[in-house]
Amino acid sequence: VGPGLVQVDGFHAVKHALRFGAQLTEIVAVADSDWLRLATELAPDVKDELRVRVRMVSEAEFLRYSPGRHQTGMAAVARRPLYDLPPERAAKRLAPAVLLEEPRRLGNVGAVVRVAAAAGASGVAVLGGVDPWHPAAVRGSAGLHFALPVTCVDDVAAITGPVVAMDPEGEPIGTAGIGSQTLLVFGTEREGVSDALKQRADRLVALPMRPGVSSLNLATSVAAALYWWRLSSIKNSRSSGS
Ligand SMILES: C[S@@+](CC[C@H](N)C(=O)[O-])C[C@H]1O[C@@H](n2cnc3c(N)ncnc32)[C@H](O)[C@@H]1O
Repeated sequence: VGPGLVQVDGFHAVKHALRFGAQLTEIVAVADSDWLRLATELAPDVKDELRVRVRMVSEAEFLRYSPGRHQTGMAAVARRPLYDLPPERAAKRLAPAVLLEEPRRLGNVGAVVRVAAAAGASGVAVLGGVDPWHPAAVRGSAGLHFALPVTCVDDVAAITGPVVAMDPEGEPIGTAGIGSQTLLVFGTEREGVSDALKQRADRLVALPMRPGVSSLNLATSVAAALYWWRLSSIKNSRSSGS
């Protein structure tokens, strides 16, 4: 696909892209794709739009849109979104945002975007490392990149607002808590959070682990932290009667 465009691979990614308002320039399917059955069963909200917009293509042409030949036989091309206020610079966040420092694995980035969308985070920013809009990352999030802002950050200086660095050596999350305006920083898969980001952080916070376990996987730790925030904010709003 060309500059400013994103490859969207597979029925579920196309479904989420449509559902969350992506600007799709093309949607294609091959003859033996069962996208209509999938849409009827799993996505009646976007079925009519798919019916109008899907262009049937040959197997050979489909491979140009889906080089790995996605098993659902559907793919699309979308415009890469631009954001007025990227998550790392939000003036006042209503929900935590996530910043990944130099992630190396596209599968981790996709899994992080997916859980961030599910938990209701306000965005995912990536500082260095891989492009979060790489086709493999968009496939890994099942197209949920279109559900929240996903940006690239060049410099730590671009970050504003309260920062919590997630680190196994930090203060336990049960006592530290996570505020809704926080930018949650997660370190690279091997080395963890850099000294520069630890210095920028207001606090270091740890997810409790059984003795002998040195760390959680990157995407798993994002999931645990975001769901800790989500479940504790639901509990707090219930106990305050709001
Ligand atoms: C695979 S871990 C990196 C391991 C690295 N050796 C370290 O000690 O930080 C990737 C990132 O996940 C987060 N993480 C993993 N386990 C964690 C825990 N128990 N508490 C807080 N953050 C954790 C941290 O942000 C960490 O930088």
